[in-house]
Amino acid sequence: SLVLRPLGSVATLCRGACVEVDSDTEAEADKGFKLGCISCKMRGEVPAVASVNWYFMASDETEFSHIYSYEDIDAGYVHDPRFDGRLHWNGSKKTKDLQDGSIFIVNVTYNDTGTYYCKFSRLLMYPSYEVVTTPNKTIYMNVVPRSKNTGGMASILSEVMMYVSIIGLQLWLVVEMIYCYRKISAAGEEALRESAAEYLAIASESKDNCAGVQVAE
Ligand SMILES: *[C@@H]1O[C@H](CO)[C@@H](O)[C@H](O)[C@H]1NC(C)=O
Ligand SMILES: *[C@@H]1O[C@H](CO)[C@@H](O)[C@H](O)[C@H]1NC(C)=O
Ligand SMILES: *[C@@H]1O[C@H](CO)[C@@H](O)[C@H](O)[C@H]1NC(C)=O
Repeated sequence: SLVLRPLGSVATLCRGACVEVDSDTEAEADKGFKLGCISCKMRGEVPAVASVNWYFMASDETEFSHIYSYEDIDAGYVHDPRFDGRLHWNGSKKTKDLQDGSIFIVNVTYNDTGTYYCKFSRLLMYPSYEVVTTPNKTIYMNVVPRSKNTGGMASILSEVMMYVSIIGLQLWLVVEMIYCYRKISAAGEEALRESAAEYLAIASESKDNCAGVQVAE
């Protein structure tokens, strides 16, 4: 029990690390797209079970239709033929306590443009009572033409530019350092030469003096 307790609190901390991020809303035709829907529990430590249902209303429709349901562990069903084989669960895994209800649309088409509505049905189990909540989110998804790698190209290009500028900057620094070093050492040599010449001059002068002295002797 002493060993299990800290492990338990770590698990609680991990489960409590839920952040509600808004879904992207712009899908590219023919690509996959993740419809995000996260609903964090107000109190992470309260045990709960939840199921998630998704509804869709195309841009030319006036009513939502039920397209997908997910409950228990790994029991996801597509309820609308327009999405047959195209919806995959991207939400919480290996738990009935779902807080991430995201789904993934395979091969997005322009017909997928419209409003998506995701609804949790959550049963919160407090020690002496239970509460049902139904948090939900609405996402308007727009479908745009598939970018022909221009986005990818641009990002690759900007990455290359970043490296070029970093390397360029470092090369420039190295060149500058060599230049400065040379300048300093040249100045140093010059000074050394000057002082050596001076020394020699003094030395020869004193030698002359000495010679003079010697001569005088
Ligand atoms: C979502 O599901 C798709 C299809 O199963 C998968 O390719 C993708 O990696 C998943 N993404 C995440 C973030 O789980
Ligand atoms: C998605 O598109 C690819 C390539 O066009 C195709 O091979 C695949 O069968 C499609 N998947 C579905 C579920 O429609
Ligand atoms: C989109 O909807 C139109 C009209 O309902 C239909 O004719 C067409 O086949 C659909 N396209 C796709 C890719 O599902």
